[in-house]
Amino acid sequence: MSRLYSWVSGYHCLWILGISTTLAVVVAFSRPYFGDEFSDATSFDELPISMRIPSKGPDDPPVLAYSISGSHGDSRRMLRLVKAIYHPRNQYLLLLDAGSSDYERRELALSVQSERVFKAFGNVNVVRRGSALDPKGPSAVASTLHAAALLLKMSADWDWFVTLSAADYPLATQDDLLHAFSFVPRDLNFIDYTNKTGWKERQKIDEFILDPNLFFKKNTPIFYATATRATPDTFKIFGGSPWVILSRVFMEHCIQGWDNFPRKLLMYFTNVAFPLELYFQTVFCNTPEFQNTTVDNNLRYSIWNTTLGEAMDLNISNYNEMVSSEAVFARTFKEGDVVLSEIDKNVLNRPLDGVVPGQWCLHLGILNASLEERSAIDRNYSCSSWGDINSIKPGSNGLKLGTFFSKLIDERKLRPNQCHNSV
Ligand SMILES: *[C@@H]1O[C@H](CO)[C@@H](O)[C@H](O)[C@H]1NC(C)=O
Ligand SMILES: *[C@@H]1O[C@H](CO)[C@@H](O)[C@H](O)[C@H]1NC(C)=O
Ligand SMILES: *[C@@H]1O[C@H](CO)[C@@H](O)[C@H](O)[C@H]1NC(C)=O
Ligand SMILES: *[C@@H]1O[C@H](CO)[C@@H](O)[C@H](O)[C@H]1NC(C)=O
Ligand SMILES: *[C@@H]1O[C@H](CO)[C@@H](O)[C@H](O)[C@H]1NC(C)=O
Ligand SMILES: *[C@@H]1O[C@H](CO)[C@@H](O)[C@H](O)[C@H]1NC(C)=O
Repeated sequence: MSRLYSWVSGYHCLWILGISTTLAVVVAFSRPYFGDEFSDATSFDELPISMRIPSKGPDDPPVLAYSISGSHGDSRRMLRLVKAIYHPRNQYLLLLDAGSSDYERRELALSVQSERVFKAFGNVNVVRRGSALDPKGPSAVASTLHAAALLLKMSADWDWFVTLSAADYPLATQDDLLHAFSFVPRDLNFIDYTNKTGWKERQKIDEFILDPNLFFKKNTPIFYATATRATPDTFKIFGGSPWVILSRVFMEHCIQGWDNFPRKLLMYFTNVAFPLELYFQTVFCNTPEFQNTTVDNNLRYSIWNTTLGEAMDLNISNYNEMVSSEAVFARTFKEGDVVLSEIDKNVLNRPLDGVVPGQWCLHLGILNASLEERSAIDRNYSCSSWGDINSIKPGSNGLKLGTFFSKLIDERKLRPNQCHNSV
């Protein structure tokens, strides 16, 4: 009874906030699996289901599941990022941690719900609660696995789990990216095994830490203890970038698998600093069936500052090198940096505040337009009618990316095992 009461009274408060919030409550009712786990941009039957649900045949493009994490003040950047990587086939999950307020999360959910495109396809979701988190602690691993678990439950269609933060931005359109990914066997993983100088010195495996975010509501920095402990001898530890593109079958192994290693490793990492830079790499290298399924490249562009031990903010002076790299995402950017507008204009063809055009989003008259006319129309783009979400049309950048992906896969065949430099 008392639980029911608190549940009802919890929503009672929301009702007072006004009519817009009632949307979120409706969503909570229509999504019994998740209860109040997240709010989503439910489609209001604008489109028949056959136009909304990706078809999954051998010739259809793959489907990506994006997890986008952010903290206090990041909601505008997150919205811009979703628009820049939007495609109706994909899934998007936005997570604001406990550094942001309930108000900020609700505003983000309402902004998502007010986008006509997101609403029509119903594939952008905002996690309703903010968990406490320190990117340097095991709470960051918990949050990433939580995102993957929600995405596994939400959709049976996706092929790869892609982690991004509010400070990231794409260097390719989704039509180009999905084209390139169609060359990749669905069980391959893109993950970086680093041997950067300076990185290993930072990884003090034997040092004990405590992450209060595992049991406090508010974001709290991790503590370093003076105690140390012995290095494990039943497994070797590997590491690299925490930003990954992982196959569905590998995520199922980590979250739902029968093998106990991923769980035991989580418990070990409870007291290790920077475990998100170690967890997935270590699971791969200690699991024979997954050992040979990685490509040592996470497809990101970033510039590492060894003194600070973090990626440096990119700006317009990095533009040329960034867009001519073969990476598909870059990080980190400051909010509203002019280099983002350059990427919008020259790489993504994204109109101000709009989504990136593609085959799925038709503009009347564009079909018969010449190339020059087409690019002019594209700049003012807003979908005036829905196209086919199962058809993609790569541009020249997409074709180049496809060739690069094929090359990566061929190179990997010569050296399938990437586990060479343990920490
Ligand atoms: C680091 O990796 C690169 C490329 O994989 C390799 O050429 C280099 O020898 C490695 N360095 C060390 C110290 O292992
Ligand atoms: C790294 O950061 C430090 C401290 O802000 C700065 O002094 C140094 O110039 C940076 N390194 C590079 C290569 O920019
Ligand atoms: C861009 O970043 C570099 C460091 O990577 C810095 O030296 C330069 O001053 C920055 N330029 C601008 C316009 O902020
Ligand atoms: C494109 O051109 C063809 C004939 O040239 C015409 O039948 C068709 O209606 C045109 N389509 C659009 C969208 O203008
Ligand atoms: C694009 O928009 C601008 C101003 O909003 C307008 O002048 C131009 O004619 C439009 N171009 C096309 C191709 O619709
Ligand atoms: C993985 O590749 C290595 C060669 O690098 C090979 O010796 C090993 O048997 C392979 N493991 C599996 C499970 O295929």
